[in-house]
Amino acid sequence: MENYRDEIFTLDDFDFEGKTVLLRVDINSPLDPKSGRILDDHRIQSHIETIRRLNDSKLIIIAHQSRPGKNDYTTLEPHAERLSKILRKEVKYVDGLFDTHVLEKIRDMKKGDILLLENARFFAEETYLKGEEDLNKHENTHIVKKLSPEVDFHVHDAFAAAHRAQPTLVGFANVVPSIAGKVMERELENLNKVFTLDVSPKVAFLGGMKADDSIEVARHMLEKGVVDKILTGGVIGNIFLMASGYDLGDGNRKFLESELTNYKKIVDEADNILDRWPEKIDVPVDVVLNVKGERNGIPLKDLPSEYPVFDIGLDTITEYRKKIDKASLVVLNGPAGAFEIEAFSIGTREIFKAIALSDAYSIIGGGHSTAVLDKLDLEGEIDHISTGGGSCINFLTGKELEGVQALRRSGEVFKKR
Ligand code: 3PG
Repeated sequence: MENYRDEIFTLDDFDFEGKTVLLRVDINSPLDPKSGRILDDHRIQSHIETIRRLNDSKLIIIAHQSRPGKNDYTTLEPHAERLSKILRKEVKYVDGLFDTHVLEKIRDMKKGDILLLENARFFAEETYLKGEEDLNKHENTHIVKKLSPEVDFHVHDAFAAAHRAQPTLVGFANVVPSIAGKVMERELENLNKVFTLDVSPKVAFLGGMKADDSIEVARHMLEKGVVDKILTGGVIGNIFLMASGYDLGDGNRKFLESELTNYKKIVDEADNILDRWPEKIDVPVDVVLNVKGERNGIPLKDLPSEYPVFDIGLDTITEYRKKIDKASLVVLNGPAGAFEIEAFSIGTREIFKAIALSDAYSIIGGGHSTAVLDKLDLEGEIDHISTGGGSCINFLTGKELEGVQALRRSGEVFKKR
C-alpha cells in the first residue's frame, strides 16, 4: 500500500476526548518462566506514544501473551504493573474479557482511566478462528459482540500480531471505526521503504523458534524475489540442516518434534525449498552443542550428537558476515541460537553486530530481537527496528497483513475517502 493514509484511519482523523476506545496492542513479552517477571519491555514501551495520544479517552487495552501450551502463556497482570510504572499513572487490570464484572468496570470508567483486560488468548474464540479471513465470522464472536456496544472506536496498534486474523485484531472493523495507532503507522511507513529502495543484493537472516512461520516466509520471499539470499540459524537453521540430509541426533530431532506440531511438513517444505533454490539458502556450516552448559563447536561432519544444538558455529558466523558485509539491504528475523544463555549468545551477537556495522539498509524484526540490540547497545545503528517478528517478515514478502486489510475495510465502511 503506497500511501496508507488515503485508505486507513489514523489517530489524526478523530477526536477521542471522553470517548471509549478499545486499543489492541501487542505487549507479548519475554518472561522469566519461573518468576513470571517481564524480562524485556520494549513492546510495552513501543505503545506508550499511542496510549498518551489517547489520554483524554476512556481507554480499554486488550492484548495477548504467548500461546496456549507455552511456558510464558500467562495473565497480563504484570503487564498492567509495568504499564503503570512507565506511564506513572494507574493502569487497572481486570481478570476477564467480556464477563459482567468486566462490562461493569468499563461502564464505570471516567475520562483518563486506563483498563487492561485479560490475555485475550485465554478465551477460545480468539485463537479458534486463527487464519479465518471472513470478517463476519470474527464479528460474530462473543468477544466482539459483547465489547463492541461498549466502545466508540477500535485502535489497532498491534503491528506485531497484524498477520493474525483473530477477533480482537480484525473483528471490530465493520462495527466501529478501526484506526491505525502510532506503532502501526510507523511500521507501515518504514517497512514500505524496502519495496521502494532499488538496491541489491538483499539478504535475509531467519532464525528464532517460530520455524513454521519462517519456512513460509522463506518460500514467499524466494518466490516473490524479495531477497537474493537467505541465511538460516536457530530452529529454522536446524530444520534446513535436517532437510539437507544431516542427522542432528535423536535428542535434537525429538526436541523439534515436540516444539513443532507440523514438524514433518516443515522439514518436507524445507527440502522442497532447497531443491528449488539451492543457491539462495545458506545453512550453518558448523554448530555449537550444549555440553552440560558448556559451548562445544563442531563441524557438520561430527554430527549426529547426543547433545543439543544451541548456536551457530564460528565458521558459519564468518561466512554469514561476508554476505552481510556485501549486502545493500539486510532483514533479520529472530536470533541465531539460545541467546538468553551467555555461553550460546555468540552467534546472535555477531550476526547483529555485523548488521549494525554494515552500510546496508537494515531492518530487524523478531519481537524478542530488541532485547539483544539493547544488550549490545546497537539500537541506534539499525535503520528500522520492527516490533514484529512474523508480521514484519510477512509484510516484507509483499503479503497484505490481515490486520491491515481489516483497517482498510474499516476505512471503506466508515468512509475514509
Ligand atoms: C509475536 O510475538 O510475534 C506476536 O505477538 C504474535 O504472536 P503469535 O505468533 O503467537 O501469534
